[in-house]
Amino acid sequence: MSDRSDTPTAVIRLADYRPPAWAVQHVALEFDLGIDRAEVHATLELVRQADEPIRLNGEGLELLELSIDGRRLGDGEYILAHGVLEVGVEGDRCTLSTRVAVRPAENTAFEGLYLSGSRDKGFLLTQCEAEGFRHITFYPDRPDVLSTFTVTLRADKARFPVLLAGGNPDGAGDLADGRHWARFVDPHPKPSYLFALVAGRLERISQDYTTADGRNVALHIWAEADVIDRCDYAMDSLVRSMRWDEQAYGRNYDLDVFHVVATHDFNMGAMENKGLNIFNAKYLLADPDSSTDDEYRHVEAVVAHEYFHNWSGNRVTCRDWFQLSLKEGLTVFREQSFSADMNSAPLKRIEDVALLRRAQFPEDAGPLSHPVRPSQYTEINNFYTATVYEKGSELVRMIAGHLGHDGFRKGMDLYFERHDGQAATIEDYLKALGDANGVDLSSYLAWYGQAGTPRLSAEGRYDADKRRYRLQLRQRTPASAGQPDKHALPVPVRLSLFNQDGTALPLRLEGEAAAGANERTVVLNSPEQTFVFEDVASAPVPSLLRGFSAPVILECEYAPAELALLLRHDADGFNRWDAGQQLAGLAFDAFRDGAPGGAAVLAWTKAVAGLFGDASIDDALLAELLTPPGEIELVERQPERDPERIRAVRQGLLRALAQTIGSDALKARYQALHAQANAGLTAADQARRQLKRRVLDLLSLADAAGSVPLARQQYESAPSMTDRLAALSTLAVTDPAAADEPLAHFRKRYDGNALALDKWFAAQAQLPGDGALARIQALEDDPAFTLKNPNRVQALIGTFARVNPTGFHRPDGAAYRWLADRLVAIDALNPQVAARVATAFNGWKRLEPARREAAHAVVAELAGRKDLSRDLTDILARVALG
Ligand code: TRP
Ligand code: ZN
Repeated sequence: MSDRSDTPTAVIRLADYRPPAWAVQHVALEFDLGIDRAEVHATLELVRQADEPIRLNGEGLELLELSIDGRRLGDGEYILAHGVLEVGVEGDRCTLSTRVAVRPAENTAFEGLYLSGSRDKGFLLTQCEAEGFRHITFYPDRPDVLSTFTVTLRADKARFPVLLAGGNPDGAGDLADGRHWARFVDPHPKPSYLFALVAGRLERISQDYTTADGRNVALHIWAEADVIDRCDYAMDSLVRSMRWDEQAYGRNYDLDVFHVVATHDFNMGAMENKGLNIFNAKYLLADPDSSTDDEYRHVEAVVAHEYFHNWSGNRVTCRDWFQLSLKEGLTVFREQSFSADMNSAPLKRIEDVALLRRAQFPEDAGPLSHPVRPSQYTEINNFYTATVYEKGSELVRMIAGHLGHDGFRKGMDLYFERHDGQAATIEDYLKALGDANGVDLSSYLAWYGQAGTPRLSAEGRYDADKRRYRLQLRQRTPASAGQPDKHALPVPVRLSLFNQDGTALPLRLEGEAAAGANERTVVLNSPEQTFVFEDVASAPVPSLLRGFSAPVILECEYAPAELALLLRHDADGFNRWDAGQQLAGLAFDAFRDGAPGGAAVLAWTKAVAGLFGDASIDDALLAELLTPPGEIELVERQPERDPERIRAVRQGLLRALAQTIGSDALKARYQALHAQANAGLTAADQARRQLKRRVLDLLSLADAAGSVPLARQQYESAPSMTDRLAALSTLAVTDPAAADEPLAHFRKRYDGNALALDKWFAAQAQLPGDGALARIQALEDDPAFTLKNPNRVQALIGTFARVNPTGFHRPDGAAYRWLADRLVAIDALNPQVAARVATAFNGWKRLEPARREAAHAVVAELAGRKDLSRDLTDILARVALG
């Protein structure tokens, strides 16, 4: 975080990387834990690597004692300044020990050792990634210093009955004065960011697991007593993740115990600490009464993600934080593959690409744009971004596609084997994948170093005489912050050609002897290249970038009828959906430009209405096909962004669809789906709920009055949170007065259930229009609202600022000023959270003039303040550049 006082703001550059001057061979940590104060005694076995003094990071620590080889040092024998403790020593080895005190209950930033929950009931835990360990003890807090850890915890037994740290258990017992101790030994060398401890009153569920290579592992999931009965789905997901990693990658778990702990006080989603994963409760707890289907899928995905880090991140870690995507992009990719295997693969792909477009594309199009491997940073916490995670995963996927299934597996095997126990780089990764396959992947490195989303334009020309189809592909990446000149990248384009009756043609490229399969991948390796297909009987419709084979924006001038053909016939589930998205985009343009009866509008509504009546389409896919791009994505289609206008046009388009399908057909479908309502969690149950939600939304546009009693009835009789929340949201948009009573009912029913209340805050934070800001301000007065809890802040303030464009971007700028105020208050408590919320200002420069001016005034004013954290200052300074 932010150290307003002791740490200077410096730019850290990849080009300045130097290996550590001292290695840590072993570290022994002893903790005497208390809520207000904890003492940490660290003993480091240090080995010299270069002719430099020992330098240890430490921030916010009260130094009680420092000794070298058993000799206590006096004040003049070390330097402590700007968060660094420096000691010069002779010789190549020494034992350095420190004793420090820290104050957990005062730690509102949730970095280092802190208290979750109340003083009398809460528990202690740690969060060290990226640089939290230096808030616990003096240490070379960088990921390329790997060490074995022995950790001893001591605390009052009644207040802290459970004591946990990463590694295998190595004894426990009672002490005098009602205290007890427990020791843990981690035999796998690890960097400090993977250290964790937990202490307090926690319950657990447990399961025995035997790995494919025969190790017996005790799995434990820990949570506070009131939520321990909501951990079963996480345990189930964990076991499936462990099996999957054995089967898909041959990776086995490597300790005798694996702990997972849930906390309500966490800055991010979850953390892969070795042997002791810690989760934001939002991504661990699940039960039908308080969780939606989406949340079940998130739990499954995040449990898998953190577990997969045990190999991609922990056994092989990152040399420095510039390589963050080496573990995060790869682990997101592994999680996406797992989730695709557990659920519907095309739906998972649709969801992931939609997220990339909604979150990463806007990031990459503005002043926060950075390469998947950044070349510099001032605050590393601000680089846990959609670019590093989601775009990083797309890069791994591209390379995996290049190598093919078996080649990728061979490459991953070599990567794990070659770099086990090491801190690696992106180059190491590409080299291992390439070496295992005898190919050179270094051209893909350019993707890691170049920011911005490439535009891929495609132009097809059909020559009837020669029965030839020439496909010209061109790429161009717009300049981005600090990178004016862009290079051509290898862009794999998976494609098929459809003829007019919707069949995919066997493909023969110029110079080939015979036609092959009806799908293939061509790679665009230069700014421009033309691919010539032979024996093409009639002008084809190209299906390009199938499965989203590269993270680019495709610019291809399709006629509405061509997109409608792909929407009907494309066998690639992703491209079928994407054809619908592109067609809906054209329909949006027509509607906006005053042509609600234009060809694209008719083509989209007719095609989608046709699919609505097609019984062969899966309910969940149909739900996706019924949904045009969201308001946030559509913003990109507007030269001057006016969120109100975007919403009005989108709603108009949806109404046109609803009318084309017809309210009778919608109502009949709704009732058929509703008759099967249950709390089941099978794919079919979830798909029905998802479709029902879309149908109810459409019905509310075609027949508002008719939809209100249905929504009320659905709320009252809902057997699941998904149905309950969907009904509440539709009702609140359609007839706000009719939603008052159910909203009050929900608030009371879930009083004390933090995660359910977060959804109650978030559902209201999303309600569009003029009244939104006043509604948010009233909700801030709810006794359950607090700026101290990151989930609550995200639910109300984050949701409003990020997913309520009409509410946040009100024309008078009042919401901008209100957010600025809240950011200052949040920053004083938790800089990481403040910085994340502040990214809502990204994109201000492309707003229409009145809003632009209002937003800019607020951002410039905030950016000029001198009393904010490094985290928030860094985001503001970059966002202000526009
Ligand atoms: N490594 C975590 C992950 O799996 C991310 C994370 C958790 C994190 N807590 C954090 C990053 C705190 C920065 C700060 O994705
Ligand atoms: Zn991760």
